[in-house]
Amino acid sequence: MHLPEPRGPFTRALRADLTAGALSPATVDLARRTAATCTDPLGDEDLQLALAVCYELHYRGFAEVDDAWEWDPELIGLRAHLERRHTEALRALVGDLEGTDEPVDRQLSALVAADDGPSLSSFMARRGDLEQWREYLTLRSVYHLKEADPHTFAVPRLSGRAKAAMVEIQADEYGGGAPGRMHSELFAGLMRDLGLDAAYGALWDAAPAAAFASVNTMSLFGLHRRWRGAALGHLAAVEMTSSEPSRRYSAGLRRLGFDESTTVFYDEHVEADAVHEQIAAVDVCGSLVAEEPDLAGDVLFGAACALAVDGLAATHLLGAWEAGRSGLRGQRPLAA
Ligand SMILES: [Fe+2]
Ligand SMILES: [Fe+2]
Repeated sequence: MHLPEPRGPFTRALRADLTAGALSPATVDLARRTAATCTDPLGDEDLQLALAVCYELHYRGFAEVDDAWEWDPELIGLRAHLERRHTEALRALVGDLEGTDEPVDRQLSALVAADDGPSLSSFMARRGDLEQWREYLTLRSVYHLKEADPHTFAVPRLSGRAKAAMVEIQADEYGGGAPGRMHSELFAGLMRDLGLDAAYGALWDAAPAAAFASVNTMSLFGLHRRWRGAALGHLAAVEMTSSEPSRRYSAGLRRLGFDESTTVFYDEHVEADAVHEQIAAVDVCGSLVAEEPDLAGDVLFGAACALAVDGLAATHLLGAWEAGRSGLRGQRPLAA
């Protein structure tokens, strides 16, 4: 994929440095200042895109950027400023989480049950029109085209039952050996059916900060061993809030006349995640906490972040549509 268009002075400087081959002190200073002064880090286009660009070097990289940047110590130092601010914002967003003596899977269920964020799936089931569907898929493509990858970074940090259970889930996400059944591939097919460019990263320029805040949260948890508990809690919350909403998304597409060749991405999740949610909460998170009880708080934190950051994306789209605006950036043609 290619580097995305800049969204402010910081991403402009970062883009110039990455292509030129050296990080300038002015860019590092801009990172420090952006992190120190921005008031809404999770909604800040410049900060979120910069963090996504830094993390993407660990995934597929960019055509114009030398692969050696991945472990450039200065770039990782710059990224740390952004990560600190992002993490503070997550803490502020989810507030204090009161842990209890209950098994962690029950605490996760309680957290999910208490989530009162707006239901985007209900809107899409009943009212979402084709253009809103395109916008929704564009936003979600930032994650779903690399579905499962951010959490997979946590696998080598685990052992025993938690690891085996997590690999069982991830194997399904990756299609169980059939490339065409990979969830990222099923999502790409869905995008193409709705006339969108499904190439990896192709729609980044149209995606709002909320899309990157979501994936950056997963990358943060997956790439730092210190956050392994949060990575697993995040995965559990994703799995636990997927099956029923997927049924609604599928219904929304059928309402618009699409058949099962298009809805297969959601239909697959209705089935698979009804099973995954149990494995993730009980076998993955339960086993991790049995082995490392001190991580219970991080598991709940990761789960709470998943719910809250998803809520931000839903609020962003629904708010824009309510106001008669697009929830995407710019007027770029989205079609392939
Ligand atoms: Fe999936
Ligand atoms: Fe799943």
